[in-house]
Amino acid sequence: MNQAEKEQYLREYNILKSQGKPFFPYAVAKDSIMAVFVLVVIIVLSIILGAELGPKADPTTTTYVPRPEWYFFFLFEVLRVVKPPALTPFATIGVPTIAMILLFLLPFYDRSPERRPERRPIATTAGILTIAAMAYLTFLGASAGSPNQVDLKAPKDLHGTALAQFNAGKLVVGQSGCLACHKIGENGNDGPGPELTHVARDVPQNAIAQTLRNPTAPMPSFKRLATQQPQKFKALVFFLGQLK
Ligand code: HEC
Repeated sequence: MNQAEKEQYLREYNILKSQGKPFFPYAVAKDSIMAVFVLVVIIVLSIILGAELGPKADPTTTTYVPRPEWYFFFLFEVLRVVKPPALTPFATIGVPTIAMILLFLLPFYDRSPERRPERRPIATTAGILTIAAMAYLTFLGASAGSPNQVDLKAPKDLHGTALAQFNAGKLVVGQSGCLACHKIGENGNDGPGPELTHVARDVPQNAIAQTLRNPTAPMPSFKRLATQQPQKFKALVFFLGQLK
């Protein structure tokens, strides 16, 4: 801001100030009325609707899927997308902290007198991009599938025992930790194993069973499942065999 602009600004500011009302009591009174109004609405809502309590916590559950509150979905998604464990603290703690510090220091490095958004292209673009990125990550986080359950629907032509077998196998996949390394439909991680949504297109069912018994590292062997719980193993192979 040059000297002339500064004087002009101070002159306008003085005129506006002499015409305006003092902050106390006018603005304070207005804010107080609004605050009381909001408080009354919250009190009335809590009396009429009450607060929802979920079911009682069950410490013995093994199928509970922890999910963050919706306003943390963007961080949750960052946690899901950032693969190398060494980078996780940087992505989930480092990046938000850096963003907070940048925001905090904004008055010190942004000395431009401009206030119109269209005359501040960098600040406006950065703001819009931040909001868009958070909205997108929030959406992805909200629609992320469960990590220990496959949400895939059975093919329409499956009926009776085949359908039961399909669903049993789907359950085994969820319980066996396959989703830690494989993506199936909307669930699971994209790697280190290949996506399995359509494995049966390229791999015949007996080859799939062979892979499960004698896989290439790092995939663990499921030979024990095959010998100790052949029903489950059969269902698992059948399920994978339907993923066309
Ligand atoms: C620790 C990670 C990991 C786990 C857990 C895991 N896999 Fe794998 N899986 C892999 C990797 C890596 C490959 C690729 C191996 C290769 O290239 O030979 C693979 C390959 C496969 C293949 C062959 C795919 C193809 O296109 O040839 C199938 C089928 C498969 N896995 C199914 C499963 C099932 C079912 C489970 C759970 C019962 C499971 N995997 C658990 C890592 C894993």
